Amino acid sequence: MSTKKVTVIGLGSLGSALAAALLRTGHDVTVWNRTPEKAEALVAQGATRADTVAEAAAASPVVIVCVFDTEAARELLAPIQAGKAVVNLTSGSPDEARELAAWAASRGVDYLDGAVMAVPAAIGTPDAFVMYSGSREVFDAHRAALDSFGASHFLGEDAGVAEFHDLGLLYAGYATLVGFLNSVAIVGTAGVTARELLPLVTTWLTGMVAYLADVAREVDERDYTDGASSVAINQVALDKIIAASRAAGVSPDLLLPFKELLDRRAADGHARDSASSVIELLRPGIHPE
Ligand SMILES: NC(=O)c1ccc[n+]([C@@H]2O[C@H](COP(=O)([O-])OP(=O)(O)OC[C@H]3O[C@@H](n4cnc5c(N)ncnc54)[C@H](OP(=O)(O)O)[C@@H]3O)[C@@H](O)[C@H]2O)c1
Repeated sequence: MSTKKVTVIGLGSLGSALAAALLRTGHDVTVWNRTPEKAEALVAQGATRADTVAEAAAASPVVIVCVFDTEAARELLAPIQAGKAVVNLTSGSPDEARELAAWAASRGVDYLDGAVMAVPAAIGTPDAFVMYSGSREVFDAHRAALDSFGASHFLGEDAGVAEFHDLGLLYAGYATLVGFLNSVAIVGTAGVTARELLPLVTTWLTGMVAYLADVAREVDERDYTDGASSVAINQVALDKIIAASRAAGVSPDLLLPFKELLDRRAADGHARDSASSVIELLRPGIHPE
């Protein structure tokens, strides 16, 4: 059964946005923050400020925690009573999430871990989504409250799974950011601004995203024989980019590890395979085919 009473502990940039989103969707929100003044804006919007974590937790069946790091979250969870549901939206590692879930279970507290994929300003908009793992019961019981933040995705009962997804999406995001910055650096040597380059990069990346469906099929099936873009073709392409970057005075360092993986695949006799086959050198514990 869904509840309208929700407690939010931690009112930094993200926690404040979460509490405000809950208020907008008609929830009865109790808040606590180490620096109490940060609750004032939310109290003006209808939230109730608690004086202690224990008082805040007692006010609602579900307690959302969003603080700086897992160490702070662990300290704050100590006074939470058995029977409560905790949704921890503090960023942490998969192991930290699993440890907190085990600790919560030992105290009779139901634990759901979450990774927020949005900046505070996007909370409650269609651009925001949150990935959850841990207690399915907590996810189902408090789904209406969680949906206040954005689309909610439950990814499994292992509490660490949401944080693994977080790491994975951050890898893809950082690679895109770093790729764009390198792109701006090299094209910029021809007098082109980042704004001028952006529309072409956007169209290019849209095509790349479509290509990822082929990559996903290849790596899941470990079948690289029919790929659109071979190891050998990409070795040649990267050699050109690396040489041209050096000639233009732009560091090619970020591409060198990928080139090294392609060279190893070629040396192992896989030059005609799809370039996606470098995954065989990245995955731990999988024997190369
Ligand atoms: N901001 C984002 O775009 C974003 C997006 C996704 C995920 N996240 C994650 O969300 C979490 C919070 O981020 P944020 O941007 O809200 O950070 P923030 O603005 O720096 O706020 C940090 C919060 O943690 C509290 N805190 C820190 N140490 C504490 C302690 N020892 N005991 C009690 N409270 C403590 C702070 O309390 P005081 O007010 O008293 O200092 C504040 O409420 C982080 O894990 C972050 O990685 C953030």
